[in-house]
Amino acid sequence: MSKAKYWFERAKNEHFAIGAFNAASIETLKAIVGAAKNLRSPVIIEASPGEAEYFGIKELVGATRVMEQSNGVPIILNLDHAPDYDHCRVALEAGFDYLHLDGSKLDIEENIRQTRRLADEAHKKGVLVEGEIDNINVLGAGSADHRGKNIDVVRDPKYYTDPAKAADFVEKTQIDTLASFIGNVHGMYAQTKNINLDLLREIKARLGQTYLSLHGGSGIPANEITAAIGIGVQKINVNTQLRLAFRDKLKETLDAPGPPAGGEVAIYKIMPAAIAAMQAVVEEKIKLFGSANKI
Ligand code: 13P
Repeated sequence: MSKAKYWFERAKNEHFAIGAFNAASIETLKAIVGAAKNLRSPVIIEASPGEAEYFGIKELVGATRVMEQSNGVPIILNLDHAPDYDHCRVALEAGFDYLHLDGSKLDIEENIRQTRRLADEAHKKGVLVEGEIDNINVLGAGSADHRGKNIDVVRDPKYYTDPAKAADFVEKTQIDTLASFIGNVHGMYAQTKNINLDLLREIKARLGQTYLSLHGGSGIPANEITAAIGIGVQKINVNTQLRLAFRDKLKETLDAPGPPAGGEVAIYKIMPAAIAAMQAVVEEKIKLFGSANKI
């Protein structure tokens, strides 16, 4: 059994979720791995195509594998929201453990065709595939600071996952995980990001053994996260809260009037405070997701 499969099975059987944290830089990697090591938790490190391109896809694989070894932490490396088969193919060859093909912008038949092709190839290598039919970003929300916006502007229940369509998609594509959409838009908003747990129950009932992911993990109330895990979510994606923690702490460090940080120009002295701020967010999520002390 591959490492990814092993940890998703454990998450399903032991009712916890694995945090999937986006890393676009060595600072984010340090924060995520530091938190996982402290709390003895498996972790998913993921990069969108934009983040992977910034880091360098081979460099990301190399840095992740070295940090996994040197820290003794199981890391599942995931390509997040790849728009098509071709992006996933590059990551599969580069050594990723998990691929999220978000074909929601494709026509449904094309989404099914590309996702099935990927699943057939990935499964031969023990790599897991996540699929998506409902565009979580359909109204334009990304992993960003939307606190000046009302959440209702970027989400509408008519776009939420239809359990019957989801079951048909899973059957035709043989994916391992479905990216369910139950109100979990990306980003932070002025309002809390409440999710439709009754719909999640219906999706779970239709999909049986298929793993479920919950994107948009920033800003969902803790009690709803716990309930979603109880219903059967195995992967929760978090990006914006890390980005905000990094930006706010970096700004505070650079704006500080005097030493030790004020006027500092050495990158290795500027960054540790921002890394610690992101690590605190990851640790809080790991505890909430119930994945601490699993290794
Ligand atoms: P947030 O930015 O809301 O944490 O969502 C992240 C995500 O779902 C990445 O795919």
